[in-house]
Amino acid sequence: ATAVASVAAAAQDWDALRAAVESCRACPLGAQRRHAVFGVGDVRARWLVVGEAPGEQEDAQGEPFVGPSGRLLDAMLRSIGLDRAASAEGERAAAESSAVPLFAPAQAVYIANAVKCRPPRNRNPSEAEMAQCAPFLARQIEWLQPQLILAVGRIAAQAVLGRTEPLGRLRGQVYRYGNIPVVVTFHPAYLLRSPAEKARAWEDLCLARSIVDGAGL
Ligand code: URA
Repeated sequence: ATAVASVAAAAQDWDALRAAVESCRACPLGAQRRHAVFGVGDVRARWLVVGEAPGEQEDAQGEPFVGPSGRLLDAMLRSIGLDRAASAEGERAAAESSAVPLFAPAQAVYIANAVKCRPPRNRNPSEAEMAQCAPFLARQIEWLQPQLILAVGRIAAQAVLGRTEPLGRLRGQVYRYGNIPVVVTFHPAYLLRSPAEKARAWEDLCLARSIVDGAGL
């Protein structure tokens, strides 16, 4: 096992894992970053969104998807009723309430990246960097046990599924990470450049939402 795999396995709880990520220097990315970006959202969420790696804004702020891609990701998530600020407790309370809800409460989501540190000038992470960082995401998934993983972009699909086909061929289907269903869609940075693809991204988001709704609370 690599040093990162041992460190991730040794982390006894979520905060210890976060601390391990934030102090990691296992690959060269660790030397250049301002913040290692662990993730954001409710750990009890039914949804896990996996992105690629922090960009400039994320590196500066220590939170995933807070730059231009993040604004589009938030809009994509809102379009299917998800909000990174929502709590799983709120969802449960609304489901148990006898009041007729005028609006369905937002569903909680946890958001993390395949690679925790920003690659220089936002280049793609290398195979070696992805392999080094992989045990951190694996341990996050082990603890989160989401009902669905939404992988955004080719790098995320590669990290979660180990598949390297072009995204256009991976999207629109349901895969598995162990028992957990996985849906792949376009990265929001790609959608900013190719807005016509938003129609297909919407199909993927609806597919993902139908799986979570089918699984129930
Ligand atoms: N792009 C990603 O894949 N992740 C981020 O956190 C920000 C931009």
